[in-house]
Amino acid sequence: MIIVENIRKIYKTKGETVEALRGVSFKIEAGEFMAIAGPSGSGKSTMLNLLGGLDQPTSGKILINGQDITGLTETELCDIRLKNIGFIFQAYNLIPVLTAQENVEFVMLLQGLPDNIRKKKSLEILTEVGLGDHANRFPMELSGGQQQRVAVARAIITAPALVLADEPTANLDSTTAGSLLDLMAELNRKHNVTFVFSSHDPLVLSRAKRVIHLHDGQIQG
Ligand SMILES: Nc1ncnc2c1ncn2[C@@H]1O[C@H](COP(=O)(O)OP(=O)(O)O)[C@@H](O)[C@H]1O
Ligand SMILES: [Mg+2]
Repeated sequence: MIIVENIRKIYKTKGETVEALRGVSFKIEAGEFMAIAGPSGSGKSTMLNLLGGLDQPTSGKILINGQDITGLTETELCDIRLKNIGFIFQAYNLIPVLTAQENVEFVMLLQGLPDNIRKKKSLEILTEVGLGDHANRFPMELSGGQQQRVAVARAIITAPALVLADEPTANLDSTTAGSLLDLMAELNRKHNVTFVFSSHDPLVLSRAKRVIHLHDGQIQG
């Protein structure tokens, strides 16, 4: 499904150069439930951003279903993201002025789906993540774990082939983190969504079916 080939990423800021990824290669099969592990600063977020087409590598290739996404225009990348990829972030990144249901609907709005379908699907998916009775709450009226469930619902509403989750449990206590992982694992099983998540928490990593370890921008072991 995805082939990452010799990816390098150099950030240049005001005279300083950081080589965040130094020749990273690996593959992701469809239906995987895998983790990218590594300490803070090892390049996990950089790798996930590149996989999701949110940023471009300095060199190397990323093939998604045979198509090299490096070097595509922003419009082309937007289109791929909208159709194929869901994102879950450490800080939930919900839109504060929208309710849980409106947050989930938002992507479908971008896709131009009609109002009645948006309403029906968003409520279905919120029910699936256990928040059917919280649809009208605003993010600040939800706990961290609940907000992250809304983020999961938002990520999977378009039935993407791939969901990228950057330290999705970093702000959650271990019980809440565990149930979020249960949810992700269930969605992986039931809908065959490919999940790639990053973490440095051994407990979280133990739930992955496969783990690759980043250290200083390189794969270890
Ligand atoms: N936008 C950026 N500009 C400059 N340096 C960055 C930027 N993003 C990340 N870095 C640097 O790249 C390295 C890898 O960062 P990151 O991918 O965020 O690691 P992780 O997610 O594993 O903590 C770090 O040294 C970080 O400081
Ligand atoms: Mg990070």
